Amino acid sequence: MTSTRFVDLLGQQIRNEFTAQQQYIAAAVWFDKQDLPRLAGRFYRQAVEERNHAMMMVRYLLDRDLPAPIPGVDEVRQDFKTPLEPLGVALAQEQAVTAQVEALFKAARDEHDMLGEQFMLWFLKEQVEEVASASTLVTIAERAGDDWFRIEEHLARENVADGGVDPSAPEAAGGTL
Ligand SMILES: [Fe+2]
Ligand SMILES: [Fe+2]
Repeated sequence: MTSTRFVDLLGQQIRNEFTAQQQYIAAAVWFDKQDLPRLAGRFYRQAVEERNHAMMMVRYLLDRDLPAPIPGVDEVRQDFKTPLEPLGVALAQEQAVTAQVEALFKAARDEHDMLGEQFMLWFLKEQVEEVASASTLVTIAERAGDDWFRIEEHLARENVADGGVDPSAPEAAGGTL
C-alpha cells in the first residue's frame, strides 16, 4: 500500500494524540498544585489514555507495514487561573480531536480503504464519550463558581464517566498502559 491521504492524516493524528497527552499532563499538574487531587487524578489518567490512542495508531501502521514516525508534540497551555480554564481547554481539545477523527474516517471512506475505515470506528465511539465527560466537567465547574472544592466533592461522589478498560479497543504498540 502506498501513502494515501488517510495514512498522512493518521501520521499527523499521532502527534495530535501525544499533544493531547501533554495538555492533560499540564492541566493535571496545575490541579495538583492547587490541591485539587480528584481533578488532578482524573487528568493524569486521561493523559495515559491519550498516549494509548497514539500507540494504537502506531500499532495499526506497523501492522499494515506502513511508516510509523514518532513525532514531537506541539506547545500546550498551562497559564491557568481557575479550574474552568483547563477544563475548557480540555473540552475544546476533545471537540477538535472529534473533528480530526471524523476527517480520518472520511478520508478512509473516500479512498475505499475499508481497513482504515474500520480502524477509525472505535475512535469515533471514544470521542462521543470524551466530549460528553469533558462537557460535564465544564458544567460542574461553572456551577461550583469560586468554590473549587465543590468540584472535588462532586467527583468524589459521582463517578463521572471514566471509561476504564475497553476490551474492544485496538491493540497498542508495546501494550496498553
Ligand atoms: Fe485521544
Ligand atoms: Fe481524548
